[in-house]
Amino acid sequence: MCGIVGYVGPQEALGVVLEGLRRLEYRGYDSAGVAVRVDSGELASAKKAGKLANLEKVLADEPLPPSTIGIGHTRWATHGGPTDRNAHPHLSADGRVAVIHNGIIENFAGLRAQCEARGVEFSSDTDTEVAAHLLAAAYDDLPAGPDRFAEAMRVVCRALEGAFTLVATHADEPDTVVAARRNSPLVVGVGETADGTPEYFLGSDVAAFIAHTREARELGQDQVVEIDRTRGLTVTDFSGAPAEPKAYTVDWDAAAAEKGGYDWFMLKEIAEQPQAIADTLLGRLGEHGELVLDEVRLSDQELRDIDKIFVVACGTAYHAGLIAKYAIEHWTRIPVEVEVASEFRYRDPVLDRSTLVIVISQSGETMDTLMALRHAKEQKARVLAICNANGSTIPRESDAVLYTHAGPEVAVASTKGFLTQIVACYLVGLFLAQVRGIKYEDEVAAMVADLQSLPGKVAEVLEQMEPVRELGRSLAGADTILFLGRHVAYPVALEGALKLKELAYIHAEGFAAGELKHGPIALIDQGTPVVVVVPSPRARESVHGKVVSNIQEVRARGARTIVIAEEGDDDVVPYADHIIRVPRTPTLLAPVVTTVPLQVLACEIADTRGYDVDQPRNLAKSVTVE
Ligand code: G6P
Repeated sequence: MCGIVGYVGPQEALGVVLEGLRRLEYRGYDSAGVAVRVDSGELASAKKAGKLANLEKVLADEPLPPSTIGIGHTRWATHGGPTDRNAHPHLSADGRVAVIHNGIIENFAGLRAQCEARGVEFSSDTDTEVAAHLLAAAYDDLPAGPDRFAEAMRVVCRALEGAFTLVATHADEPDTVVAARRNSPLVVGVGETADGTPEYFLGSDVAAFIAHTREARELGQDQVVEIDRTRGLTVTDFSGAPAEPKAYTVDWDAAAAEKGGYDWFMLKEIAEQPQAIADTLLGRLGEHGELVLDEVRLSDQELRDIDKIFVVACGTAYHAGLIAKYAIEHWTRIPVEVEVASEFRYRDPVLDRSTLVIVISQSGETMDTLMALRHAKEQKARVLAICNANGSTIPRESDAVLYTHAGPEVAVASTKGFLTQIVACYLVGLFLAQVRGIKYEDEVAAMVADLQSLPGKVAEVLEQMEPVRELGRSLAGADTILFLGRHVAYPVALEGALKLKELAYIHAEGFAAGELKHGPIALIDQGTPVVVVVPSPRARESVHGKVVSNIQEVRARGARTIVIAEEGDDDVVPYADHIIRVPRTPTLLAPVVTTVPLQVLACEIADTRGYDVDQPRNLAKSVTVE
């Protein structure tokens, strides 16, 4: 949520900053803005409501002077509507300081009143602007010296409450950009140009600078970073004590973050799912076929002591958690509760040392999930993160981590992130079963072999998507689409409905098929499209037969039935207006294949309706406010 870029180096800064913003636009697209420090000792800035393209038009008409220091921002509005005036950067009253911000400054009202009492006039409705005025004042109060700008930032940070990444440039600082982070993401990129001149980047995530360097530095909580043309990188805490950032190399390159010939990132990411699943499974098996999860830094004894599991996540990741419950309980016999992070955090859940809290987050930055994680740790629970973004806050603060190796996910609606989260949950479940001696190694190996068949099965589904796209086009005028599923297909129905809501802005709801008769069936009217995700005929206790009955029930009331069923499942044929076939898959693993047609369907419907599939209205990929 909100994309942030900063640059100091020999290149033309505006180009570097705009390219970074283009790659971060998925984080928010309510407005965009840039500021550069020009050689005459002034700041120059431009900002515009709407997508980055609007800002680029402004810059084409009125170019900024050349510069080698710049900052840029793409916004997801919190305080203040998505207008030109509220777009970042925000300048101090004298125009000497420019600040961009991601997060929410919770005590901004009091700070604003203090500034106004000093005669400062505000020119926006944002919480951010207060930081610009405070920073200018703190800078003016400090003696000249190389550390002046960073120290001014530390002074400001000590006064702020809430969540913030701040990046600032100052007209009097020809070589330096300073930044700070508390609870919101910020990474540093360290590179050099072809002639060996060093250059430094700041970004909300590594996508901001991946075109220039893969060498990154992870910042800790409550740290201030200065990037300086000659002094390089300096990190301290808010009190000024030096800190050592952790270095890491990003394991993907700029090409991975490009559309690669697809119309939408989402289509590309759907197509990448077989590879993403294979990569997530890679290297997890030991020489005797046993699972080896080296990143899970919990001892076998700690894992044996677990008597309860919570899975906590938001949005699509929450649906991965719902699927995990079926598998983990079945394989380990440990009770599993699944909850959205924003509820878990504030309801006083019962946790102790023998509770394992699994937090799932593609971005590793979702604030609700982060706060739930911190709450769990305060209660002494063990926390295991399932995460895609290396070096992000959630894995860093967890006791253990299992990375999904999905590569960069750019489309706001999660696809390969989701499927790899499900696969990672399976790995955790099987690992727990293995460590606790509930499953023998050969049983685990057989199930891992089933997992390894998933990339091939997803690829098979993807080859048969043309009829699904055609169906999508025919559904583009629908007002409501309902999704039904039962057992492990129930969370798939929820995810199908969520995808459709977020991409196509069509009213969509997912229901447990068994609940249909307790209310939702009243929604069925002549022609209402109902998508039914049918569990495998091998599922427990004839749940398959019950879902076939549910299809009949809705059809009898006029529904247009769209049925997702396994190859060879002929029971559904008489009641299906459309059948989407998926390969035969072990019951608990089926969500990995049955989700795929629902992703394609939502994407096609949104595209047919003329919407931006990658950047749906009002959403952001990484939601870094509570
Ligand atoms: C946002 C996105 C969703 C995503 C959710 C959780 O709401 O729009 O697509 O599922 O955040 O994101 P995370 O990065 O924690 O998996």
